[in-house]
Amino acid sequence: MASTSKFKIRPLRWNDFDDYCKIWRSLQEELDKDPRLTMGRYKERADWEFLITGFSDLYREIKARSAKSLVLEADGHVVGLCSIRLSGSTHAQHTADLTYYVIKQYRGKGMGTELVKESLKDVPKKCEIITAGTHSNNKASIALLKKFGFKRVAFMPGFSKRGKTYLNVEEYYKKVK
Ligand SMILES: CC(C)(COP(=O)(O)OP(=O)(O)OC[C@H]1O[C@@H](n2cnc3c(N)ncnc32)[C@H](O)[C@@H]1OP(=O)(O)O)[C@@H](O)C(=O)NCCC(=O)NCCS
Repeated sequence: MASTSKFKIRPLRWNDFDDYCKIWRSLQEELDKDPRLTMGRYKERADWEFLITGFSDLYREIKARSAKSLVLEADGHVVGLCSIRLSGSTHAQHTADLTYYVIKQYRGKGMGTELVKESLKDVPKKCEIITAGTHSNNKASIALLKKFGFKRVAFMPGFSKRGKTYLNVEEYYKKVK
């Protein structure tokens, strides 16, 4: 796995649960301040049931080879997470969804790029197409997707609703096989 003197990129481990929770809390704090950031859960709290279920589902998918999750580790802690998870839909089991998150203070150093680059190597065997959705205002996310050859295939005006605010959503697509 890729590493620099300060950062390391490695597969998610079972004992990363505490850091996984911290990542979710960090995302929620950001969303409270700026609901335009990601399309993740807005205003719903990530309670223990949500976190335990979310982590164990992801871990089970990794073990079943229907998901790949890499973490960005800095100073012994997970500060970023990138997952590629095969779709559960019967008609789309050859497709997977890509998500990524880097804790705010570690952004802008090329780490998101490294995390996605490593994640796109050796994707789950059945995966032929990867998709990713993002708010149109999320310039960093869009730059990242374009850098790895994702093409915009949908623009959905007002598809995301945060309180009374409607946000445009873009869907990106990459054929990997
Ligand atoms: C998207 C994200 C992972 C990028 O992480 P990062 O470590 O800052 O990424 P990098 O430093 O590798 O930068 C990636 C690209 O985004 C660009 N970028 C970074 N911050 C930017 C900003 N605020 N505005 C515009 N472009 C930006 C960089 O210039 C780079 O593009 P380039 O190589 O063409 O110059 C990070 O911003 C994040 O976690 N955001 C919140 C979660 C999120 O949006 N997830 C995806 C949608 S669900």
